Amino acid sequence: MFKILKKEEWSPSVFAMEIEAPRVAKKAQAGQFIVLRVDEKGERIPLTIADFNRETGAVLIVFQVIGASTMKLAELNVGDSIVDFVGPLGQPSEIEKLGTVVVVGGGIGVAPTYPIARAMKEAGNKVIAIMGAKTKDILIMEEEMKAVTDEVVVTTDDGSYGIKGFVTNAVQALVDRGEKIDQITAIGPVIMMKSVADATHDLGIRTIVSLNPIMVDGTGMCGGCRVQVGDETKFACVDGPEFDGHLVDFKGLMSRQRMYRDLEAQEKDHVCNIGLDR
Ligand SMILES: Cc1cc2nc3c(=O)[nH]c(=O)nc-3n(C[C@H](O)[C@H](O)[C@H](O)COP(=O)(O)OP(=O)(O)OC[C@H]3O[C@@H](n4cnc5c(N)ncnc54)[C@H](O)[C@@H]3O)c2cc1C
Ligand code: FES
Repeated sequence: MFKILKKEEWSPSVFAMEIEAPRVAKKAQAGQFIVLRVDEKGERIPLTIADFNRETGAVLIVFQVIGASTMKLAELNVGDSIVDFVGPLGQPSEIEKLGTVVVVGGGIGVAPTYPIARAMKEAGNKVIAIMGAKTKDILIMEEEMKAVTDEVVVTTDDGSYGIKGFVTNAVQALVDRGEKIDQITAIGPVIMMKSVADATHDLGIRTIVSLNPIMVDGTGMCGGCRVQVGDETKFACVDGPEFDGHLVDFKGLMSRQRMYRDLEAQEKDHVCNIGLDR
């Protein structure tokens, strides 16, 4: 069992939880994720490792309540435990000194960009964070991000804070002011990552995206998370979740995600029986 050490509500539907998972904390690296189950009958849900502390053994997850499992997770409190917390899974982000690195986080996607920004800064890069949110009240981790980067640029769709517009406008503004960007890492909704990749393609900026297809086992066995990257079929759980954004078949990814939407809506109370004796 994995104990909840801390719980905070960061915005109306976004929660941060520190989970006691020393083995995961010991090995975790930026870019990796865990798969958890709230209880024995729960679905497996993948969540990115937003932070880790090797000394205390705590792992931070930041999640948005969108369906039955994340709702169940949000109902738990400090002192409660969850049954499974498997990881770290996936390939770590490639961290190296490149020069100027921009991390672009959209919505809840800001959380996974945080450890990447910190590691890139520690590797000696100039790091600029672009953080996008629909409105000011759902923006997360601004202070945390400021502490590990050289500059933070905020965009809101409604203009309630920072630049009015999308994260792609902020990328363009950096280019327009003469910033020489060596790499961009974009994490957020698929449509956002696609837009950033489209924009940077013509600008010739290498762009890494972190994909979030449906995952079931998280071990490369079920094939649920397959994505087309260039000429190759990849499994996001073991080959990714990060890939070259200019090679990803975003259309295919979006249509595979849509395949399950109606089923999920109908089966909010579905009980996953994989691994149970019945
Ligand atoms: C590598 C990876 C990292 C992720 N990191 C985060 C994170 O840090 N914070 C966060 O809020 N969300 C993250 N997600 C998405 C998160 O897994 C889903 O929001 C969650 O599974 C929803 O479960 P639900 O039962 O509450 O909703 P449901 O009603 O079951 O699903 C709602 C939507 O969530 C997505 N989803 C559902 N099940 C899965 C699954 N098994 N795998 C992938 N997507 C699924 C689908 O798009 C679906 O339409 C990540 C997904 C992946 C693949
Ligand atoms: S989640 Fe099953 S192969 Fe990736």
